[in-house]
Amino acid sequence: MTDFKSSTLEIPDAGRIPRHIAVIMDGNGRWAKQRFLPRVAGHRRGLDAVRTVVRACVERGVDFLTLFAFSSENWRRPAEEVSFLMQLFVIALEQEIGKLHENGVRFRAIGDLSRFEPEFRRLVSEAEALTAGNQRLNLAIAVNYGGRWDVLQAVNRLLRDNPGLAGAVSERDLAPYLALHYAPEPDLFIRTGGEQRISNFVLWQLAYTELYFTDTLWPDFDAAALDRAIISYQQRERRFGRTSEQLPEDAGLASFSVADTRSAD
Ligand code: FPP
Repeated sequence: MTDFKSSTLEIPDAGRIPRHIAVIMDGNGRWAKQRFLPRVAGHRRGLDAVRTVVRACVERGVDFLTLFAFSSENWRRPAEEVSFLMQLFVIALEQEIGKLHENGVRFRAIGDLSRFEPEFRRLVSEAEALTAGNQRLNLAIAVNYGGRWDVLQAVNRLLRDNPGLAGAVSERDLAPYLALHYAPEPDLFIRTGGEQRISNFVLWQLAYTELYFTDTLWPDFDAAALDRAIISYQQRERRFGRTSEQLPEDAGLASFSVADTRSAD
């Protein structure tokens, strides 16, 4: 069972730094197109941005970072691009996992991994096992992930384990079966690349998440861009269904700066 509060059952704890940030990394293709480069060059630069943002999250004390790297709908892309992305994931895993481990990052892959090559699944399992004891940042890469897939796999596994629950499933019953069962609900959702939609990302847990959309293309998203998102988050009034008047005096996040040493531009 998870210890984290459900935003629909209780008022979750909220601090000035979001505990969990979920990101749709959009705009790699357009970044490349603007430079007359092939789309895959944008994905390669996207990986550099992943490195930058992971480091920035560690420095800012974010506990959970969930990145949407490949959706269950991304198989619809041209075969060569899908194949390039798969190779990039493998290379990234092989090259980065040592550094992530040294920096205390716990790695997980979430999504339906059954569609991937055994070699890829083996690398994922090894990376998860190597970093299982780390506590600094929980990094999840969502691959072949879809929010609807997640809810359905959770319901199906729950009912397989507990056939007697049919017709009486509660949130608390379902929570341990969701792919992000180990994390609090995201405080902040970021989508780069100008589109304003959720695109079947973590649908269940975004119930009370603060949404932030930016035109910045993912390869250009850096620590300063992350700080702008966090500052926007700090200016939100997180009411969770209550009125402003009901909020405790100290509930506001706005009076804090993102980090003592940095200022957003
Ligand atoms: C969306 O941009 C991006 C993706 C579908 C792939 C994301 C992959 C990376 C950031 C690189 C590798 C990451 C990891 C974690 C190993 P898009 O191609 O839809 O861009 P567009 O909307 O401009 O076409």
